[in-house]
Amino acid sequence: MRNGSIRIGIIGAGRIGKVHAQNITFRIPGAEIAAITDMDRAAAEAVAHSCSIPAVAGSAAEIFENSAIDAVLICSPTNTHPELIAEAARHGKHIFCEKPIALTLEEIDRALEAVKAAGVQLQVGFNRRFDANFARVRQAIAGAEIGQPSLLHIISRDPAPPPISYVRSSGGIFLDMTIHDFDMVRFLLAEEPQEIYAAGAVMIDPQIGSAGDVDTAVTLLRFPSGATAVIDNSRKATYGYDQRVEVLGHLGKIETMNCFPNQAILSDDQSVRRDLPLNFFMDRYTESFVAEMSAFIAALREERPTPVSGHDGRMAVVMALAARQSYLERRPVSIQ
Ligand SMILES: NC(=O)c1ccc[n+]([C@@H]2O[C@H](COP(=O)([O-])OP(=O)(O)OC[C@H]3O[C@@H](n4cnc5c(N)ncnc54)[C@H](O)[C@@H]3O)[C@@H](O)[C@H]2O)c1
Repeated sequence: MRNGSIRIGIIGAGRIGKVHAQNITFRIPGAEIAAITDMDRAAAEAVAHSCSIPAVAGSAAEIFENSAIDAVLICSPTNTHPELIAEAARHGKHIFCEKPIALTLEEIDRALEAVKAAGVQLQVGFNRRFDANFARVRQAIAGAEIGQPSLLHIISRDPAPPPISYVRSSGGIFLDMTIHDFDMVRFLLAEEPQEIYAAGAVMIDPQIGSAGDVDTAVTLLRFPSGATAVIDNSRKATYGYDQRVEVLGHLGKIETMNCFPNQAILSDDQSVRRDLPLNFFMDRYTESFVAEMSAFIAALREERPTPVSGHDGRMAVVMALAARQSYLERRPVSIQ
């Protein structure tokens, strides 16, 4: 067990960097943020001010060279991740990196080599594993409460598409959005897929098609145990963020429903209705972001492996690339 707080440097003060900064500052004991940096200095200054972070660094390099910092959180855009991981590792920093690690396996392998050579810890930001609903589904499968799983269905739909500029640099729906679901399937079944088949379409915004992407996709995965998983994605569900899982086993099934801001049901002579689900990931997965960061900090303090490894991060990208290939070539793709 390590004594004292884990001292953290944050790279990227955008949407997700701010979430982690607030959680560490206000909700997670055992860690303190020593510095934050962002290409947009004003963004870093705003988060530093709201979270009482003592220093705004001029660059990621300044954070790496700060010997008082134990670990870094990489919360900048995906294309910056592999180089930042490698640099952080070379400076002996433990690393939490947002998903995905990178968009190509070559870049991921170089980054993971650097992590291995330095002997530092790496956790990848698959926060949904830490959501209480999905954790309970995993517990049911691991504890044989539903028997051998045969069918797994993930519904994962966003309330609205991201800006087209984001779509262009995101790597496409499979690497940007389905990536969470690929990790969820592996997490729930604790098995590696052997074959993937993906179909997709542009049903929401033609601009997404012009950017070379799809906004609607279904991915089918086959597993050595015989289990089949289906992932259903859409960039737009008019009723809000739709995040559900159902697993059928030979002894029963387990399913999770959406989360709502309240439990009120209004009934009258016309209908029975309720308010819409929590609208997007910031609201829906609030607690999972706290739990994943607490787990990262606990792993560093207790000097044990992080719960979501570089291999986990790599496998999700392997699956995403296979799904993209399957969609483009209109055929099932096997996973080696
Ligand atoms: N786990 C999740 O649910 C989740 C949710 C959102 C985003 N993400 C991931 O987090 C990453 C960031 O996404 P976001 O939505 O916060 O993006 P964002 O655009 O809101 O924020 C990124 C920030 O990084 C800054 N930046 C860019 N290059 C930088 C560099 N070299 N050094 C320092 N700062 C730099 C930008 O100025 C910006 O403020 C992406 O990889 C994304 O896939 C994960």
